[in-house]
Amino acid sequence: MLFTPTVHTTDSAMPPSLANSRPPASSRSYLPHPGQAAFLPFSKTLVRFDAANAIESLHPVLTWPKELLQVVTEWGADKPISESAKQMLAEFDLMNAASRPTPLGHKVRYHVAEKHWQTGRPALDGHFPLEKIQPLERVLDVGCGAGQTLRLLGTKPQVELVGVDCDLDSLALGARFAREENLSVTFVEASAHALPFAPETFDLVMTRVAINFMHQRTAFAEMVRVLRPGGILFCRFERIWHDAFSLAEFQSPWRFACKFRDLAFGVIHSYTGWQPTPGTTLHGGRAFASASRVRKILTRQHCEIVDSVPSKFGPIFWGNRTQYVILAKKM
Ligand SMILES: C[S@@+](CC[C@H](N)C(=O)[O-])C[C@H]1O[C@@H](n2cnc3c(N)ncnc32)[C@H](O)[C@@H]1O
Repeated sequence: MLFTPTVHTTDSAMPPSLANSRPPASSRSYLPHPGQAAFLPFSKTLVRFDAANAIESLHPVLTWPKELLQVVTEWGADKPISESAKQMLAEFDLMNAASRPTPLGHKVRYHVAEKHWQTGRPALDGHFPLEKIQPLERVLDVGCGAGQTLRLLGTKPQVELVGVDCDLDSLALGARFAREENLSVTFVEASAHALPFAPETFDLVMTRVAINFMHQRTAFAEMVRVLRPGGILFCRFERIWHDAFSLAEFQSPWRFACKFRDLAFGVIHSYTGWQPTPGTTLHGGRAFASASRVRKILTRQHCEIVDSVPSKFGPIFWGNRTQYVILAKKM
C-alpha cells in the first residue's frame, strides 16, 4: 500500500467546508455540496484515485504489471496479439476461453481504443482554443472513462484535471495509465446526475460521448452548476445519424431491437424533452441527443451557445457526421 485514498460514504458526516462559493484553486477538496448526500443514485461511495495517491490494493487494475498494459494497448489498437499475450489477458480476466473479451475486457478494450484514437488530437477536438478560457485552473470531464480525453490537456502543470465516471473499473484503468505516464489526474467515482462538487468549481467542463448514456437534462444541470460564470462547457455527443448508422450494421435481431429502442427514446426526447432515467430495465441505457434539444436545455440553464456544429471527427453516414459538438458559456 502506497497511500491512503480519500473515501467519503453517504453515511459519513459531511465536512463543514462545503461552501457555496467557489473553493480556492489551491484547495484539493472536491466534496459533495450541501444536501447532496441524500441523492447519490449510482454510487454510495466516492473514491478518489489520484495518479500520485492511488492505493495499490484498492482495485485489481491498479496492480497490473507494465507488460499487461502494453498488451492491452496493442489489443485496443486492434493489432494482432500473440498466444502468450492472449494467455496473459485470460489470466487477468480480460479474455475468455473462446478468445472473446470478458465484460471487463470489453470495457478495457474500448477505453484503450479511444485513448489510441484520441492521442495527438487537439484539446476539445480543435473546436475552441483553450487560451480563450481565462483563468484555466480546473477542468472536469464528466463520463471520463479512463481519462483518455483529459490526458490531452495534461501537459500544463497549473491546470488541475478531474474526471468523473460511474464505472470504477474504467477509473482504475485511467489511474493505472496516469501513474505510468506520470500524469496528475484526480478520478472520482460518482454519477453525472449528482456531481460531488461545490457550485462554480470548474473553468471548463467537458463531456464526450457520455451524455447519450445519461438523463440529459439532469446531467447538464449538474455540469452547469459546477461551472463558474464565464466558464466553458464542451459537449460532444452522438446524434440521430449515429443511431441510424448502427441500425444499418445489423448484427442480430436482439441488438437491432435494442438499438431501435434507443433510437425511439432519442426521437421522443428530442421532440418532447422527456426521457426515462438511464439504467432502468425499460430504457437500457442510452438515447441519441439532438442539437436543438441540447441547445434548449443549455439556454434554459442560463448558458450562451458559443458554437453548435457537426464534429470534425467520427464516422459519416449518408453524408452526415454522426457526432455533434456544442460549446456553451455560462452567463
Ligand atoms: C462511451 S464512454 C465515453 C468515454 C470518454 N468520455 C471518451 O470520450 O472516450 C461513456 C462513459 O460514460 C460513463 N457514464 C455513463 N453514464 C454515466 C453517469 N450517469 N455518470 C457518470 N458516468 C457515466 C460510462 O461509464 C463510460 O465510461
